[in-house]
Amino acid sequence: MKKQLIVPKQIVTVDEYNSILRNSVVEIIDDRIADIYPFNDQSVENFDGEVIREENLTLIPGFVQTHIHLCQTLFRGLADELELLDWLQYKIFPFENAHNPESLRMAAKFGINELITGGTTTILDMGTLRYQEIIFDELIYSGIRAFAGKCMMDLNDLFPAFRAKTSDDLKYTAELALAYHEREGGRIKYGFAPRFVLSCSEALLTETKKMMEDFPGSIFHTHASENKNEIAEVRKKFGKENLEYFDSIGVMDNTTVLAHCIHLNENEINLLKKNDSRVSHCPSSNLKLGSGIANIPEYINRSISVSLGADGAPCNNNLSIFNEMRLAALIQKPIHGASRMNAKTVFRLATIGGAEALNIADETGSIQIGKKADLVLLDLEGPNHTLSENDEDIYSDIVYASSRKDVIHVMIDGRWIVKDGMSLVYDDFEIYYKGQEQLKKLLSRL
Ligand code: GUN
Ligand code: FE
Repeated sequence: MKKQLIVPKQIVTVDEYNSILRNSVVEIIDDRIADIYPFNDQSVENFDGEVIREENLTLIPGFVQTHIHLCQTLFRGLADELELLDWLQYKIFPFENAHNPESLRMAAKFGINELITGGTTTILDMGTLRYQEIIFDELIYSGIRAFAGKCMMDLNDLFPAFRAKTSDDLKYTAELALAYHEREGGRIKYGFAPRFVLSCSEALLTETKKMMEDFPGSIFHTHASENKNEIAEVRKKFGKENLEYFDSIGVMDNTTVLAHCIHLNENEINLLKKNDSRVSHCPSSNLKLGSGIANIPEYINRSISVSLGADGAPCNNNLSIFNEMRLAALIQKPIHGASRMNAKTVFRLATIGGAEALNIADETGSIQIGKKADLVLLDLEGPNHTLSENDEDIYSDIVYASSRKDVIHVMIDGRWIVKDGMSLVYDDFEIYYKGQEQLKKLLSRL
């Protein structure tokens, strides 16, 4: 049994009352938060375990990102200034198609390292068509909490070489789910990942949903209604809007996480609510690909689950939750007014909102007794920070003024993954240079 005690300046719990605790400590036994109690010099000195005294740092729950493409990390900066369908056709599909196990491994390492050093402790990853076990291998090794799965595609008019036979895609998916769902004491779960409506036959989508019955706790992860040309294609093919089609074939329920959901009509918003499906909002990606601005305040008004994701490195070009929080707040203000999407609301989307979207809010997303110890210590005392120490101003400081550079220590499942801003899992420079090598080789395979 391993006991640890964290003594921070303050604890932003993200519990139901948004309690902020001062002069309090968090006791961790193995992978879980065992207790939270008032600070007392005597009890800290007599603690029979490791004491982490960081009385200038703010303890927050680890961030949860519900839409990530680890496989795309090597392609950062190689697909700028394009809209979705051209971006996929001319850049991303050929790039992903050129992955071999070595390049995919470096992409996964590079992406996970950026995420953990930026304070993200849980992700939902979309995977890629081939060699998915490599991504699982790195997720397991790194210590990050993840839902992941092979990207499923049995149609591809944009780049036909990059797809699989329906039966092969389903078979490989079933094998992976059997091998990896609920691994590492539940830290790794399967996220079934049919890519988007234009890359998936109806059979692929419905058979995948059926397969999920054998894997309780798994997630159905796809893109939906991101781009106007994309939904025009969907309309042409099915005579329906994107979510109307998904609903008509029975793939929307409370395990469905839909990235983007930008161009929804009233009926589709009602379908989100009726099916209790989840929206993963990716504001950087939505702006950079020129896709549009999702009506997130309306979804929140209707108590539809909203969480945040950075999407992939080539449509962002960062995997930092701080960028996503800031933009999620700012982009709505000219449309809905400056008081909408306040800092506290957005901070909750990036923490407990993500955990709720993935149906793991009993395990992570807030600092509460009994939950997993997925924790981040932030330094909010630098030149760019808010001077006020009022409770409400902490959210403002984190959402509007902070960055990944303020992340000092990160713990996942009770294990320190980042200390003093440095990854304990990966060597930053080694993976940068090895990633560069693999990118060169990959580009030569195009
Ligand atoms: N739609 C289908 N594939 C993708 C992808 O890789 N990124 C984004 N942003 N949208 C997609
Ligand atoms: Fe995406």
